[in-house]
Amino acid sequence: MSIPTYQLHHLCIYEKSPRDAMWNWLRWNHAIPAYYWEGSADMHHTGEGGVDYTFLACGAPFQMQLETGPYQFEYERKWFAEHDSGINHVCWIVPNAWDTIEPLTANGATVAMPYEQFGDSYNGFVAIDTEGRWIEIMEYVGGFKTPDVEFYPVGQAELQTLGVVQLCKDLDAQVKWYTEVLGQKIVHDARSNNDGLVYLADDTYDGRQCVSAFATPSIDAEHALMDRHGPCISSVLYQAGNLDMAFADAINAGFGEISAPAFDDRIGCRTGYVREPAGNIVQIRERLTA
Ligand SMILES: [Fe+2]
Repeated sequence: MSIPTYQLHHLCIYEKSPRDAMWNWLRWNHAIPAYYWEGSADMHHTGEGGVDYTFLACGAPFQMQLETGPYQFEYERKWFAEHDSGINHVCWIVPNAWDTIEPLTANGATVAMPYEQFGDSYNGFVAIDTEGRWIEIMEYVGGFKTPDVEFYPVGQAELQTLGVVQLCKDLDAQVKWYTEVLGQKIVHDARSNNDGLVYLADDTYDGRQCVSAFATPSIDAEHALMDRHGPCISSVLYQAGNLDMAFADAINAGFGEISAPAFDDRIGCRTGYVREPAGNIVQIRERLTA
C-alpha cells in the first residue's frame, strides 16, 4: 500500500497559564485562529477531563496548540506528571486515520490513545514513535477544521512559523523511520556520523512550507532537555526576513533569551534561541531559501 500524505499541522504545549502566556505570543505577531473549551459545541467531550485548547498561528499553516489541565485523558495527565510543561505531541493530518494504525504499529510505534471518533470533528489516535515522542494522527470529518491563517510573513520582521525541532538519540534511524513510514522527504541534510540535523517535509511542502527538523542536541539548552526527558520534541521553529528584529521583538514580548543569533553551520545561516512562557525552546532562523 502506498503511504498516505502525513501533513504536519501543529505541536502541543502543556501550558499551565494559557491566558497569561497568550499575551506574550500575541505581542509577538501571533493570532488565535481557534479556541476550544468546555462550551464549544463542535468539540469532542469525553466527561473524563477538561478541554481547553488555544491554537496560535503566525503567518504559516504550522500552528501551536496550548493545552491546559486538568487534561482530558488519563494518559495525558500521566505524561504531564512526568514531564511538566513540555511539548507533548506533533500532530499530522491524514486522509484516513484508521488506515495508518497498522503501518505505524507494524513498524514499531505503540499506541498511547486508541483510535476514537469524535462526532463531527475528527477521528484519530495518538501513537508513540520508536524513540518515545508522541504523534497525534488526525482525520477531519464533516465540515470541521481548525482555521488556517493567511500564509504571509507577519510584521516588519517578516516572522513565520516553519515547523518543529525533535531531538533524537539515533538520528539516522529516526530519519529513516519518518521517511519510510510517514513518507517524509529530506529537504536539507547536514549529518555526519549520525550527528547533526535534517529537515524533513511532507508532500504539501510546495504550498505549505512546513518542516520537521530532526537533530542531535547542539546548544546547552538542548543537551539539558535531552538529559532530563530523553529524545523529545524540543522547539518551535520560526523563520524571519529580519532575524535580529524578530529576535528583539521576542525579547520585548516577554520571551526569555537563551542565545543571540549566531551562525549555525548545520543550516548555513544565523539562528537565535529564546524560551516561550512555559519554558520550551523557540528557534528563530533566517529565511529558508531552499
Ligand atoms: Fe493536538
